[in-house]
Amino acid sequence: MDTKSSPFPTWVEIDLNAVAYNTRAVLKIAGAPMMAVVKSNAYGFGAPQIARTVLDAGAGQLAVARFGEARVLREAGITAPVLVFGMVTQPEVDEAIAQEVTLTLHSFETAKQFAQRANAAGRQVRVHLKVDTGFGRLGVLPEEVIGLVRTSYELGGITVDGIYSHLAMADEAPDHPVTRQQIERFSGVLDSLQAAGLRPRWAHLGNSAAAFGLPAARFDMVRVGTALLGMKPFYFQPFPTELQRVIRWKAQVASCRLLPAGWGVSYGHEYITVAPEWIATLPVGYGDGFRRLPGNQVLIEGQRAPVVGRVCNDMCMVRLPHAVPAGTEVVLIGRQGGEEITTDELIDRWHTSQADIVSSINLRVPRVYPSMERSG
Ligand SMILES: Cc1ncc(COP(=O)(O)O)c(C=O)c1O
Repeated sequence: MDTKSSPFPTWVEIDLNAVAYNTRAVLKIAGAPMMAVVKSNAYGFGAPQIARTVLDAGAGQLAVARFGEARVLREAGITAPVLVFGMVTQPEVDEAIAQEVTLTLHSFETAKQFAQRANAAGRQVRVHLKVDTGFGRLGVLPEEVIGLVRTSYELGGITVDGIYSHLAMADEAPDHPVTRQQIERFSGVLDSLQAAGLRPRWAHLGNSAAAFGLPAARFDMVRVGTALLGMKPFYFQPFPTELQRVIRWKAQVASCRLLPAGWGVSYGHEYITVAPEWIATLPVGYGDGFRRLPGNQVLIEGQRAPVVGRVCNDMCMVRLPHAVPAGTEVVLIGRQGGEEITTDELIDRWHTSQADIVSSINLRVPRVYPSMERSG
């Protein structure tokens, strides 16, 4: 999109062709079916749009964190299997049964709740059992799995269609002993389920990192989120050549003024001009997800420009070598000319994960899908 035609002060462009490309690339590398993780509004990229794209490109199932996110997918007409990772309330269990949304069975209490609601409705609730192999978040311990499966079948109304766990260290460090231990524990649970004739259809453990670099963690299906959205699967390796970047965050210059020497910029006057300086104001602030941290840069006319002074809620200021007209395109994430600011770069500057960076771009920043516009 060229800025002249952009109706927004700031916006995010999402390349759905790149999402489809990444989905096919990950499927090829993993050599296993895929559950695509589209939680948190697909990390802010738009859950229905991303879900349709990854399903068309070959993903078989979807996953979200909350039931409300599954409802959004169903309301968008998406009928593919959807797993809810997190807690569900009682009214949500009833709706999940009616909407055929798969729930996470993570405790004996949830088994009782699910069975009671399914039996009351005279229907089955489909679940994937969550086993905690070393994440300490949700799930029963490995030695409790068989008991939970048996209890579920005794209570009735529950179909245990899958079993899963989540890796804590796969993207942080190569061949980490914790990852090896988690794979061993998960395999052990599957062996004992198999021996008892209770193994569910879908066993899944691996995230983006496992899909790329951990064949032993792939089992029946990989469960992939950020790699599909063009984020690198490993902190410790550069961006893989097999993936394409998906997101571009842009804005237009609101104003550009020559401020006199000694002029304070923004709250606290942390920056004071040393000479007459061209200072451009951008309509982007921490309220949009542009962090209030030092060291930020943006791209203007293909060059890096430093953010000066504190980032405000809705605006920030940058120092430029010369004047630019209002409306000049600014890139906060993405390429412009020969320069690029990636989410990889922001991990270090903002001391956080790529998923956090993109999920935190506020919904007041419109998402646009240029590839959809091009294809009509
Ligand atoms: C349970 C679970 N599985 C899979 C994923 C996807 O992870 P990734 O984005 O590394 O592929 C997540 C995301 O955090 C998750 O919570």
